[in-house]
Order: sequence, then structure tokens, then C-alpha cells
Amino acid sequence: MPKDTGKTATFTIDGATHEFPVYSGTLGPDVVDIGKLYAKADVFTFDPGYTSTGSCESKITFIDGEKGELLYRGYPIEQLAEKSHYLEVCYLLLYGELPTKAQMDDFETRVTKHTMLHEQMRNFYSGFRRDAHPMAVVCGVVGAMSAFYHDSTDINDPWQREVATIRLIAKLPTIVAWAFKYAAGQPFVYPRNDLTYAENFLHMCFSVPAETYEVNPILAKAMDRIFTLHADHEQNASTSTVRLAGSSGANPFACIAAGVACLWGPAHGGANQACLEMLREIGTVDQIPTYIKKAKDKDDPFRLMGFGHRVYKNFDPRAKVMKESADEVLGLLGIENNETLAVAKELERIALEDEYFVEKKLYPNVDFYSGIILEAMGFPTSMFTPIFALSRTVGWISQWKEMMEESGRIGRPRQLYTGPTQRDYADVDAR
Ligand code: SDX
Repeated sequence: MPKDTGKTATFTIDGATHEFPVYSGTLGPDVVDIGKLYAKADVFTFDPGYTSTGSCESKITFIDGEKGELLYRGYPIEQLAEKSHYLEVCYLLLYGELPTKAQMDDFETRVTKHTMLHEQMRNFYSGFRRDAHPMAVVCGVVGAMSAFYHDSTDINDPWQREVATIRLIAKLPTIVAWAFKYAAGQPFVYPRNDLTYAENFLHMCFSVPAETYEVNPILAKAMDRIFTLHADHEQNASTSTVRLAGSSGANPFACIAAGVACLWGPAHGGANQACLEMLREIGTVDQIPTYIKKAKDKDDPFRLMGFGHRVYKNFDPRAKVMKESADEVLGLLGIENNETLAVAKELERIALEDEYFVEKKLYPNVDFYSGIILEAMGFPTSMFTPIFALSRTVGWISQWKEMMEESGRIGRPRQLYTGPTQRDYADVDAR
């Protein structure tokens, strides 16, 4: 339970005054518990988009939007990106502490031993058109896990919840890599237990039977860092979707499939694909002013993809790390004079000096540079969001686990109804 500050918030309406308790967390704004507002005052709050609404208590991730800070269980994302690795971050998000060596070895072994899919799940892929968007495939196959792993769908059994958690973290790279192979018309590549998590993913994506494939350590390190930067992010749209699905008692595979579906949108996880396509459309640095003008035009639906954020009103710390990685990876790969990166950097520079973006506190977010690295690694833009989904699966399942360990109620928002008042049915001849 959050700490009761002893303070109360007073709410007066229709001549009646009501008091509501104020709680404080360890970081961030206090909250007003308005759970009894409707019973006391016969009114609802109204907050479409949830700009001022806390949906839950959580101990997993904290964002300071004004300072541009992101903590996973209290550890700054910059330190984890530099010193940790993705599976260690998975352990931290799931269990709350950095693992000892023995705990890490055990966790890594459990994940490694679950990376293969039930052989019959291969059949799901052949049901899709080859040109299906990989997110459609990933969403379908993740949901289908409910039809194969019945021994880990009982949400009331802590052991089954743990098995489902490990299976999801372990199998998402295989599911995503096979979606990539299916679209490319290449044979599926099975996971190997002698490779690290990121090495295995690159192996399943890029190796072919016709020749041996050596994982490039530079790419493996960059891949692992991208996984870490995307792992969790408080109650974003897809995580809130997972929590809401979980609140109904749906099995974990169905809940994660719901999260995949929500992440797909270009306002959310789909922004990395949309951002690279935008940078390509801009093409050259001299075209940037035209697009900045479009982005500022209220009558033009165009927005700078990879810019802006509901919470960050300063630089997204992940974007800073990603920008450094882009320079490093492209340099190490010998990809000099990358026009897309040049456009991105110049677009960032111009936007950050423009009063529209300054006044609205719009900064590059995690999606602004990630696509440049992923493209340099050999991924098509359609694979960017599936890779985001793979990375975020640990965040989704950690938040789901946290919710399942508390005795929660089904999430069921109310509304402001502005439709017709009651009226009688009219026969078609009388209309
Ligand atoms: C992710 O929530 C998370 O944590 C998400 C995420 C995670 O890790 O889970 O961080 C991942 O989704 C990052 C965001 C990726 N999306 C994009 O890059 C798409 C482009 N960005 C915008 O669509 C927008 O900034 C959002 C969706 C990210 C945030 O939307 P909000 O909070 O609802 O902000 P808003 O749309 O109300 O914008 C505020 C103002 C508006 O102008 P006014 O109506 O006040 O005049 O800023 C403008 C907007 O028009 N604005 C932009 C803009 N983003 C906001 N104008 C031009 N280009 C933009 N990118």
C-alpha cells in the first residue's frame, strides 16, 4: 500500500464538500485516492488519455519527465545500458534486485532451455500471406501460445505464472525471427543454446543453411542494448492494455498478445518504423524546413515521428543512448556518410531550436534513432516494431506479474455519455 500522507484533498460540488486521502510514493507526484468519489458525490472524474490519472501502484519503473530520467527498479537506464545486459535487466524487472552470479546463471539457463517453439506452431506461419506485416504474425502467434502451453495458463498458480513468464521471454525472439524469415521466404533457423540472447536472435534472423554465420559482436552488443532500452516504461499504452486484459483474468499469453496489438500503432511502438520512413521521405537535409513547417501546421496531420512524448518534457534518456549507439555502430560497421543519420541529426538540431518545439517541449524519443541502427544491422523497417515488442515483453510480463500478486479488481472505466436520451423504436415506414 502507498504511504498515507495524512493530508486530504477537498472537493466541493453542489454545495457539498468531500475529502479524499492523499498518498505519496518514493518518487514522483502525490496521488489523490478518488475511489469513493462517485459514491460520495455522484460524479465521475473525466480524463480522456489519462493525462492526470494514476492507474495503479508499481515498484518497477519510474520516469521523471521534466528531468528526462528513467529508472528500472531504481537503477538509471544509462548505467544499465552501459554496464548490464538484457537478461540481467529482465531478472531485475521481474524480481526487483540485480541477481547474484548463481541467480543469473540459473535464470539464463531456464530462459535458454525454453527458446524453442512447439513444432506444430510452425504451421501458424504458413497460414499468413508472405507479405503480411510481421506485427500481424507476431500478434497471432503470441496469442496462439494459449493453445499450446496449457500447463502455464492458470493465473492463480504462482508456478504456472512463472513458467509462462519464462516461456514468453524465451520464445519471443524465436517468434519474431521466424516472422522475419517467413516474410523473406527463407527457412526457419532454430535457436542455439550456446549463444547469448542477442546473439541467438541475430543468428535466427540472419543465418542461412547455405553458409556458416558468425555473429558480429558489435551487432550483438548493439542489439542487446536496444533490447535493454525498450524493456519497460511505466504505464504506457501497451502496458496499460496488458494490465487491463490481465485484470479480467485472461491468460498471460492473451494479455501479451493484446500488448503487441496496442504497441503496433504509429503513435506508440510503430513510431520507429514511421520515423525511418519519414527520414527517408525527407531524403536530404535541404528538405527539412518543409517538413518542420508541415509538422507545425495545425491543419496538416503530419507529425515529426520519433518526436514528443506524453511524459518526457525533456530529452528521452533512451534517445541519448541510442544516438551514441548509432554513431558507434555505423562507425564500427564502416557506414560513413549515412544520409539518413545526417538528416536525423540536422532535423533534431533545427527542431530543438524552433520555438514551436521548444514551447511544446518536444524532444526526440526512443524511436528517433533506433530505426537507423536497426536498418544498419540489416533489418527492414517492418521488423522495427516486432523488435520493440520482443524487448518490451519483459516489461509487460513484469507489470502483469506485479498486478497478479496483488488482489486486484477488474479494470472498468466509466464515461461521460452525450448520446441520445431514451426514445421508442420507430417502424421503418414511420422513419
Ligand atoms: C513511445 O508512453 C510511453 O512511454 C511510450 C514509449 C514507451 O517506451 O512505451 O515511450 C514509446 O510510444 C514513444 C512515442 C512514439 N511516438 C511518436 O514518436 C509519434 C509522434 N509523437 C506524437 O504523436 C506525440 O508526441 C505522442 C503521441 C508521442 C504524445 O502525444 P500526447 O502526449 O497526446 O501529446 P499531444 O499529441 O497532446 O501533443 C501536445 C502538442 C500538440 O499541439 P497542441 O494541440 O497543444 O497545439 O504537441 C504537438 C501536438 O500537436 N505535438 C507534435 C508532436 N508531438 C506532439 N507536433 C509535431 N510533431 C510531433 N511529433
